[in-house]
Amino acid sequence: MRTSAIIAMLALSGLINTPLQAGDAAAGASAYNAKGCVGCHGAAGKKPIANYPAIGGKPAEFISAELNKFRSGERNNPIMMPMAKGLNDADVANLAAYLAAQ
Ligand code: HEC
Repeated sequence: MRTSAIIAMLALSGLINTPLQAGDAAAGASAYNAKGCVGCHGAAGKKPIANYPAIGGKPAEFISAELNKFRSGERNNPIMMPMAKGLNDADVANLAAYLAAQ
C-alpha cells in the first residue's frame, strides 16, 4: 500500500491527532450528565439555569481552553474550579467534542 494511502487512513481513523486532542463526543455526552454539568448548563449546554453561561455549540477549542484554565486556577471561579478539577485530559477533550457538536 502506498504511504499516502496509509496516512489518509490513519487521519480518517483519528490516529493522527490534530494539535488539540481529538475528543470522543459520545463519551463526552455521558460525562456531561454523569459529572453533573447538565445540572447548571442544561440540556446540551443550551438551557443553563440562572445566568450561567450557555456552552452548547461553542468551539471545542474554547471549551477545552476554559476548562483547563479552571483546572489550573488561571480562571478563578468558586463554582467551576472544583468541577473542572475532577476532569482529566480525556474528559476535557470528550466534553469539548460533545458540546461543540450541539
Ligand atoms: C454548580 C453549577 C455548575 C456546574 C455543575 C458546572 N458548571 Fe460550568 N459554569 C458554571 C458557572 C457559574 C460558570 C461561569 C463561571 C465564571 O463566570 O467564570 C461556568 C462556566 C463554564 C465554562 C466557561 C463558559 C464561558 O462562556 O466562559 C465552561 C466551558 C463550563 N462551565 C463547562 C462545564 C462543564 C464541562 C461542567 C461539568 C464537568 C460544568 N461546567 C459544570 C456553573 C457550573
